[in-house]
Amino acid sequence: MHLSPPPAAGLEASLFRLYRDFFDRAERKRRWSLRDDVPWHQCNPALDPAVADVVESSCAVELYLPDYVRNAMALWRPSRACTWFYANWGYEESKHSLALSDWLLRSGQRTDEQMADLEGRVFAREWDLPHDSSLGMMVYAMVQERATALNYRNLRRRTQERGGDPALEKLLLLVAVDEQAHYRFFQECVQLFLKHDPDGTLEQLRRVMNSFMMPAIHELADGRRRVAQIKGLEIFSEDTYYREVYLPVLESLGVRRSEMRNRLPARKAAGSGTR
Ligand SMILES: [Fe+2]
Ligand SMILES: [Fe+2]
Repeated sequence: MHLSPPPAAGLEASLFRLYRDFFDRAERKRRWSLRDDVPWHQCNPALDPAVADVVESSCAVELYLPDYVRNAMALWRPSRACTWFYANWGYEESKHSLALSDWLLRSGQRTDEQMADLEGRVFAREWDLPHDSSLGMMVYAMVQERATALNYRNLRRRTQERGGDPALEKLLLLVAVDEQAHYRFFQECVQLFLKHDPDGTLEQLRRVMNSFMMPAIHELADGRRRVAQIKGLEIFSEDTYYREVYLPVLESLGVRRSEMRNRLPARKAAGSGTR
């Protein structure tokens, strides 16, 4: 892993403002209680087990939290804005895996032994960074958060269609709102980098977005089966990625699809507009 140099002073100040806005908004509008805000007595044990299988896979992805935090903190060590963000992010993500595993147990869809087995399999292997640059990982995080928010939104829709479960529906809503807020933070950061270093940022956008895969799920021995279940319930697919992640993210950044191909003339520096 290459330890990145600190962001330039002006850029770091802008990143820190984004972090403070993110944090203030989270404190005011987005904090939720795992104990009090989910109607746990309304779990539906008769819900289609196919939904529970995908909840379990999402829980497994969230359980790789130690690897995400460890790697992100090391990469972004020189930036207070980013490391403070990741401290807050880690707290929120830790709640996600708790919420999903609590639901699997309380609904009766999984036993304590099954959950212990899942945790054992997750912690047996470490998740390695898919990209070696801090900016590449920021782009990756942006895309992954957007994809995760959609994943939970669609899982909630399937839950409603396949028997309903007020507890799961509410927790998926709370988690999806968190993921969308994470996406927005990373998207605003990438926008800053795009102004500051257009060519370097475009290069990372190409590297990451043209070959994106969801994290960690492939690390599991039964990863292939889990991906097939996610596609089977029409929760996430290559097509979802292209239509609902790739194109809208590029549009939000003001990046043209033609710029995502290689061998393009260099962009003009900041202030020249992004299109
Ligand atoms: Fe999460
Ligand atoms: Fe997230």
